[in-house]
Amino acid sequence: VQRANIYDDIGGAETINKLVDAFYKRVGKHPDLIPIFPEDLTETARKQKLFLTQFFGGPNLYVQERGHPMMRARHSPFPITPTRRDAWLACMDAALDEVEIEEPYRSAMFERLRMTANHMMNTPE
Ligand code: HEM
Repeated sequence: VQRANIYDDIGGAETINKLVDAFYKRVGKHPDLIPIFPEDLTETARKQKLFLTQFFGGPNLYVQERGHPMMRARHSPFPITPTRRDAWLACMDAALDEVEIEEPYRSAMFERLRMTANHMMNTPE
């Protein structure tokens, strides 16, 4: 059965691409995030597009290329403190505004990202 999903409802690949670009534009300038991200975010953004496509119900592009997401394990090399979690979410919050994702999708997306970001924390301040 074909079911409705957030990915299709917000405009599919075009919207995910805009959202991820708006997000990493901010990550690359955020003083709390710069120290743990690569200087060139091209490849990071490309993988995040694959991931968020499937995260929001689109085709399983991330699994096809990268295998099981194992997001917490993939983040373990990077010290993710509560401050960095908040910074990540602030960049995403602003990106969701920039791309003008409408309700109820905006809140649903942010809530899922917020829960996943909490799960990614691995280091005290
Ligand atoms: C990769 C930081 C939360 C999805 C990364 C990388 C860093 C990072 C430093 C490596 C970038 C690179 O080397 O290219 C953070 C921080 C977070 C956070 C500080 C704050 C909580 C999240 C969340 C998601 C996510 C909530 C998903 C909803 C990804 C993906 C990758 C990634 C898909 C690429 C993994 C791969 O190599 O295949 N993140 N992240 N991250 N992050 Fe996060």
